[in-house]
Amino acid sequence: MPSWPHTFVHPDFNHIMSISRQSIFEALQNVMEPDLKKDIVTLGLVKINDVQDQTIDLQVKVSNPAMHSKMRMREACEFAIHRTLGNEWKVIVDVVPIAGDERSGELRKVLPGVKHIIAVASGKGGVGKSTVSANLAVGLARAGHSVGLLDADIYGPSAPTMFDIVHERPKVIEKDGKNLLEPVLQYGVKVLSIGFFADINQAIVWRGAMANKALSQMVNDAEWGPLDYLIIDLPPGTGDIHLSMVQLVPISAAIVVSTPQEVALADARKGIAMFGLAGIDIPILGLIENMAWFTPAELPENKYYIFGKDGVKNLSEDQGIPYLGALPLVQSIREAGDAGRPAILQEGTEAQSHIDSIVAQVEKEMRMLPFRKKKATTEA
Ligand SMILES: Nc1ncnc2c1ncn2[C@@H]1O[C@H](COP(=O)(O)OP(=O)(O)O)[C@@H](O)[C@H]1O
Ligand SMILES: [Mg+2]
Repeated sequence: MPSWPHTFVHPDFNHIMSISRQSIFEALQNVMEPDLKKDIVTLGLVKINDVQDQTIDLQVKVSNPAMHSKMRMREACEFAIHRTLGNEWKVIVDVVPIAGDERSGELRKVLPGVKHIIAVASGKGGVGKSTVSANLAVGLARAGHSVGLLDADIYGPSAPTMFDIVHERPKVIEKDGKNLLEPVLQYGVKVLSIGFFADINQAIVWRGAMANKALSQMVNDAEWGPLDYLIIDLPPGTGDIHLSMVQLVPISAAIVVSTPQEVALADARKGIAMFGLAGIDIPILGLIENMAWFTPAELPENKYYIFGKDGVKNLSEDQGIPYLGALPLVQSIREAGDAGRPAILQEGTEAQSHIDSIVAQVEKEMRMLPFRKKKATTEA
């Protein structure tokens, strides 16, 4: 007769099963997921396939799919079960890698319900980063995704104006005893802006600590709910605020916006380089060329390349980064931004079709991103 572990006190089989499952989970609570820094039971990575004849058959997921990591996980589970339940148990552990989606989604601690976090950046200010962010967000929502927009541009938050919500404030709601900010819903997009936190004219004063705190609140203490896409409108340039943003938020990819003008391209290159630094290492989803040409309303067939032609397209070819598309410089895009109703909402217009094709390109590149070969990072 084998000696039964003390947990097996009830002769009823189902009862034995339930007790033993419980004790298996208790034993495995001592096993940490090395990358996710929590035990595998709390993370929900354990599935008990079968328990019978002194054999425990498990499936355990690991973050790192490498062979040695799987082997170590198998060993750790066996060790934990033997120590807690006794050496007489035979332990079979099928170790499988966590699927890419689960890794970036469900198990992430920061913004756990958000599938894709895309930062929109530019080297230079005034190139249309916020215009692109707003239209992209509304466009993705129109395409059927759940979308949030986080306006993190402490130097010039413009989402409140571009979404006509200057006088709105996020509500504070209580959830599980915690006070959370509820983003403002407009045009199908959930919006939070650093502009909600203070008078824009004071922005200079609270660069630094205050801004970091507001950003952290918008990320950690906001009820975004489940989202397919969170678009982050970053400040222009490559400063400290970008580094803290990168530390704060698990950004999936960045989009760099530039005009075809050489001074803008030079700064766009710096932006691209920043994302490629070791320690930041955020893939560039692609480049968007804004103000690619000028078309006057009265001469819709004419294109004037006032900032130069194809500058961003050439940059994307040089760097081997996808080109996501172009937006012309047209008065209606500027007016739409000022009026608080992004240009993509103007049905049947040229602007709408250009933005729609950028949206489709973003969706496609995002689907392809996990399969993309990683570029080597550069040292700071
Ligand atoms: N394609 C465009 N056509 C016309 N005006 C544009 C276009 N893109 C941006 N603008 C206008 O240029 C100004 C700067 O754009 P914005 O998106 O605020 O730039 P950034 O966020 O990079 O500083 C805004 O007044 C905006 O309406
Ligand atoms: Mg802006």
